[in-house]
Amino acid sequence: MSVPVAPGRLPFLGHTLPMLRKRFAFTGNLRDQGELVEVHLGPLRALFVASPRLTHQVLVTDASKFHKGRMYDKFRPFVGNGLAVSNGSFHLRQRRMMQPAFHRDRIAGYAEVMRRAATEVVDGWQPGEVRQLEADMQGLAVTIVGEALFSTEIGGKAIDEARRSVFVIIRNGIMRALSPGFVEKLPIPANREFDEAIARMRAIVSEVIDSRRGDDTDHGDLLSTLLMARDPETGEPMTDDEVFDEVITLLTAGIETTALALAWIFHEIAANPEVERRVLAELEEVLGDREITIDDVPRLTYVGRVAQEVLRKYPLWLVMRRTAVEVELGGAVLPPGTEVILSPHTMHHDPVHFPDPERFDPERWTPERAGELPKGAFVPFGGGIHQCIGNHFALTEIAIVVATVCRRFRLVPDRPVRTKFTNAAYPNDLMMRVVPR
Ligand code: HEM
Repeated sequence: MSVPVAPGRLPFLGHTLPMLRKRFAFTGNLRDQGELVEVHLGPLRALFVASPRLTHQVLVTDASKFHKGRMYDKFRPFVGNGLAVSNGSFHLRQRRMMQPAFHRDRIAGYAEVMRRAATEVVDGWQPGEVRQLEADMQGLAVTIVGEALFSTEIGGKAIDEARRSVFVIIRNGIMRALSPGFVEKLPIPANREFDEAIARMRAIVSEVIDSRRGDDTDHGDLLSTLLMARDPETGEPMTDDEVFDEVITLLTAGIETTALALAWIFHEIAANPEVERRVLAELEEVLGDREITIDDVPRLTYVGRVAQEVLRKYPLWLVMRRTAVEVELGGAVLPPGTEVILSPHTMHHDPVHFPDPERFDPERWTPERAGELPKGAFVPFGGGIHQCIGNHFALTEIAIVVATVCRRFRLVPDRPVRTKFTNAAYPNDLMMRVVPR
């Protein structure tokens, strides 16, 4: 079967320019071309998956036939062979060793970190002042993942460095993934910044791990679980390099995505008074005057729907895979080494499954309506063996931060928000006035 080629291809640059310029409009339009569409990232041919059915096949049913794709290669100098980029049996072993760190009981411990960190943020707000909310939420997301990882003092230095470097690395990484290879070798400030940020993060995280090796105490943090994990077959612990790669991976994967959801959730709550009213009513009913605890999170069903809707509307743009063996996909036969692009954003904005997709509507997530969605249509956390290991962590964090902020302050937009792009739409200058309730 011949696969249609996306319109707008240029010699040498392929579709890189229209992709970087038009972003969601470019990939959204590919839905009209077919279930599978050819796009060119510079000279590299890739296949864009434009239907839930094939998204599910790649992520879940045929997951073992794919490796992580080109985008992840670009992060390898930074994250080594951590969970987000590793493949096959090594990935499976690491995943098994790390899973206990994300067990319900552990998340209950991090919930207290989340509540405290969110309280500190709102304690710092002066009534009536205008805050740059996306900056506050980025800071909060760094503190939460950072403190969940490192509870000891030296971890504080690593957290400060993450605050400085993680966003530089993510932004430049996605640009590298979509650009022809020579771009990353150019002596431009973006490349220098990327390399320097990586070097600084590596240095400080190594220092933290060194300080903790030989210390058998369970500090209750993520780093303790990584250091104490044992391979179920050999009984061996992870090497220092492996622990290092996983720490950097968690810092990278766990911060930007959550900060993004947190910033947009306050934007949407402010823009939709009925949503705000229902959120407050639920907080009042479930919590009364109490502080939120982990046990409250599943009871906050409406807040949960608001979170789902934020993850639908503002998900990652692209996720990549590469065929490890020959794969039959949507009638085409893909030889090993074929790059495949998936797009949670394109799936989540398909008007067939999400009518009026730009409208923010938590009612899409009543159990009846959510139950009608086909597999692959809603994939904010991916799926299958590579599904986000931090999904419960993130949903807990969102609920706790929303509860802590909304009960103390009403956030009122001070000016229209703008959007900037990394591998998602990020609010730019989300200026909000914080008015005490
Ligand atoms: C709202 C927040 C989040 C979103 C939307 C999100 C999204 C995703 C997605 C789509 C993937 C799959 C990527 C792929 O298949 O290639 C993923 C993987 C991953 N995420 Fe998250 N994530 C979030 C929060 C977190 C948090 C808080 C952590 C850790 C503290 C985390 C750690 C990871 C890791 C380690 C992977 C790789 C898993 C594997 O391949 O086995 N994420 N995430």
